[in-house]
Amino acid sequence: MRIEENYSLLGHNTFGIDVKCRRFLEYDTIDDLSYVIGTTPLLHIGSGSNLLFMGDYEGTVLHCNIQTIEKAFTHPFERKLKGTERLRVGAGMVWDDFVAYTLEHGYYGLENLSLIPGEVGASAVQNIGAYGVEAKDYIDSVECVNLTNGRHHIFFNAGCDYSYRHSIFKTPEYRGKWAVLYVTFRLSTIFKPKLEYGGIRAELERQHISVDTLTAQQLRQVIIDIRRAKLPDPQVQGNAGSFFMNPVVPREQFEELLKQYPAMPHYEVDEDHVKIPAGWMIEQCGWKGKALGPAAVHDRQALVLVNRGGATGADIVALCQAVCRDVKERFGIDLHPEVNFIE
Ligand code: EPU
Repeated sequence: MRIEENYSLLGHNTFGIDVKCRRFLEYDTIDDLSYVIGTTPLLHIGSGSNLLFMGDYEGTVLHCNIQTIEKAFTHPFERKLKGTERLRVGAGMVWDDFVAYTLEHGYYGLENLSLIPGEVGASAVQNIGAYGVEAKDYIDSVECVNLTNGRHHIFFNAGCDYSYRHSIFKTPEYRGKWAVLYVTFRLSTIFKPKLEYGGIRAELERQHISVDTLTAQQLRQVIIDIRRAKLPDPQVQGNAGSFFMNPVVPREQFEELLKQYPAMPHYEVDEDHVKIPAGWMIEQCGWKGKALGPAAVHDRQALVLVNRGGATGADIVALCQAVCRDVKERFGIDLHPEVNFIE
């Protein structure tokens, strides 16, 4: 366990916002958490890749340092599903290290989620997703501790209320009240590539890789190549990946817009709803590559806001508001941040 007082969070948020917290506690075991149970305010972070600090945090920031991977215990009466394996993973494990581990050991499903920044615990809170796959598709259960009373609880997938970039852990009743300690994933021992989304096939063709002989490692590398080409590296320029969620709109509204913008990219959600890429709308509004003070819209992926150096939370929010205003004016659609603002 590590406890620091008056601690800089610069290395704990990928936006690179220079703020401090009153106390920082990194725990290695459930028992370490007893120091903070019942105290407030508490903020549990992963690698800070989806956070925007608006100022110093006047409370305790928690970070999990449990990084184990083990085969999940199967009860003697439990039927083991053929062709699958369950892995129980510590919440503090770096997400992409876990993805790499699964492929090295012949467990498949997470290939398309390669190189997403963050840690395993946050993957279950945010329901991270990319290239047609979401964490929820492979999450079996999430082991948590209630930070108000120390109670241990296992949330099974159905109890996590998962949807696009959402889980029960993000609702006002649960937010900040539970620490995720372990996530158990159910993965396949058979590789079944998912190639329908986000230009994967085009990239395979460009690299002269045949779908018939495609391996999981090759698919992982292709995803990594696509991401590196579009998304800024937080080590070089502070950012938190997609700043906004892609809005889901009623079909009638989508059809009206399509008359005006026949080339508008979109994804079917259900009979009544369509998802429109916010990055495309932001680019149409002329914001791609544009700056407002020390904050800017990334020049290769307009869904990403970047810190050009020395930005504060307020600088990023000012840009966010200007972008939202223009998108609303032009498309009549409200954008909602995916990033969590911490006051
Ligand atoms: N587009 C533009 N201009 C832009 C950006 C995108 O026209 O500046 C268009 C693209 O040409 C494409 C469409 O918008 O037709 C979608 O773009 P892209 O495939 O890059 O994905 P996205 O919808 O912008 C989402 C996720 C990403 C994830 C990608 C790939 C959200 C909020 N974002 O972005 O997730 O990597 O799909 O699956 O759903 C993240 O959450 O941090 C993240 C990077």
